[in-house]
Amino acid sequence: MEGKIPFGPTYEEMLYPEKIDPEIRQRALKALKEDELDPINLFNITWKDENNQVRKLVLPPELTGVDANIVVLLGRYFPSGSHKVGPAYATLIEGCVDGVIRPGEHTILGPSTGNFGIGVAYICRLMGYRAIVIMPDSMSDERYERIRKYGGELDLTPGTESDVILTLKRTYELKKDPKNFALAQFELLPNYRFHRYVTGNSAIEAVRDVGNGRIACFVSAPGSAGTIGAGDEIKKVFPECKVAALEPYECSTLATGGRGQHRIEGIGDKMCTLIHNVLNTDFVVLIHDDDCVKGLKLIQDGTEVLIKMGVKEEKALELKDNFGISGICNILGAIKMAKFLRLGPGDNVVTIATDGFDRYRSVLDDLERRTLEITDFVLERWYRDIFLRANEEYIYDFRKPEAKERLFAQKEQDWLPFGYTKEYLDAMRSPSFWEDEYAKIKEYDEKIRALR
Ligand SMILES: Cc1ncc(COP(=O)(O)O)c(C=O)c1O
Repeated sequence: MEGKIPFGPTYEEMLYPEKIDPEIRQRALKALKEDELDPINLFNITWKDENNQVRKLVLPPELTGVDANIVVLLGRYFPSGSHKVGPAYATLIEGCVDGVIRPGEHTILGPSTGNFGIGVAYICRLMGYRAIVIMPDSMSDERYERIRKYGGELDLTPGTESDVILTLKRTYELKKDPKNFALAQFELLPNYRFHRYVTGNSAIEAVRDVGNGRIACFVSAPGSAGTIGAGDEIKKVFPECKVAALEPYECSTLATGGRGQHRIEGIGDKMCTLIHNVLNTDFVVLIHDDDCVKGLKLIQDGTEVLIKMGVKEEKALELKDNFGISGICNILGAIKMAKFLRLGPGDNVVTIATDGFDRYRSVLDDLERRTLEITDFVLERWYRDIFLRANEEYIYDFRKPEAKERLFAQKEQDWLPFGYTKEYLDAMRSPSFWEDEYAKIKEYDEKIRALR
């Protein structure tokens, strides 16, 4: 029935869109092209295309300089332009079926540095909720425009990506009003559930026809640390898989407790988020922020240079538009890990492009302002220095219990002040905490089916 459709898909349908009622699926696919504000688009929250294949790119080895396949899942095809709409939807729908978020009664708060806020504004527009996005005031202009376009209101806090804690403090203030409900991406487990189940299993499917069909390493730069939860599922299927978390070199909070401003929007938020299952984080790798911005310039505007350096024209064109800054960060981390782990032909490293280029032109304009001259000669040098010469520096091993303690301590430092108890944080030291949270997917799917 028409009025009920905005209730949206189950977790299972987000992973297997072929299980959606075919008539609804067809309408959703049509709306994806024609009317992004049609609520039927909730059924387009998936990594898969119309043929139920995961949207991905296998990077040209001429660019990566490694034998292993680097497979990137593409998030820009999700409605609203990034996969962050998935966690936003999962958190909202769980709240709806639990009866804690009620239409007409609640205003939805989205603490974010951008994409999650865009996702929240978008989902609220589709599902009929008022949305307030709380975010730093110095993110890329394209982000604010999108939020406004979807009818979201902005509540800005000072700073950039690394000032996300101020958005959390502001959210806690606004939450005192019982009419406000926060889709707290750093704290609430639907974000973990979405990525472990939907992203994790999509990654596993994505390599079926690539190399040896297995995943040797999963690389993700955490913002909320939702995406890295996919690693938990990948390790279940490929126990040999190593999970690497990337951070900006300029803000190495997990690796060394470092805190600083940086340019990789969406990641490196000066904390260990509550929903980060650090038990499965094997390595933390630091990436220079400006390498990501320059790398983006090369891939987006340097097609001719890519071709000159040996990338086939078709491949060079395929890369365009598919990455943002954090996507380049993930690629550089994947190259470093492929070298560090001595991966060879047939091995696969999987990583993620959270969003595409559409929200970063202003960032490249800024790069041009701060760089004297960006000629082809300079782009060629960036190609060699940033991609081909990505090395094994700044890779920290977090597999040993002492190293995990550092991450647990960071989590306590970050979350005890927000009222979480030591017992709750201690429970997260046990794998069963994460398994129990993951198992709730079945329950939620049943509720969603029953109520929509
Ligand atoms: C551009 C971008 N990259 C990476 C991330 C990190 O993803 P996650 O929050 O799942 O860790 C985000 C999160 O908002 C993002 O917006």
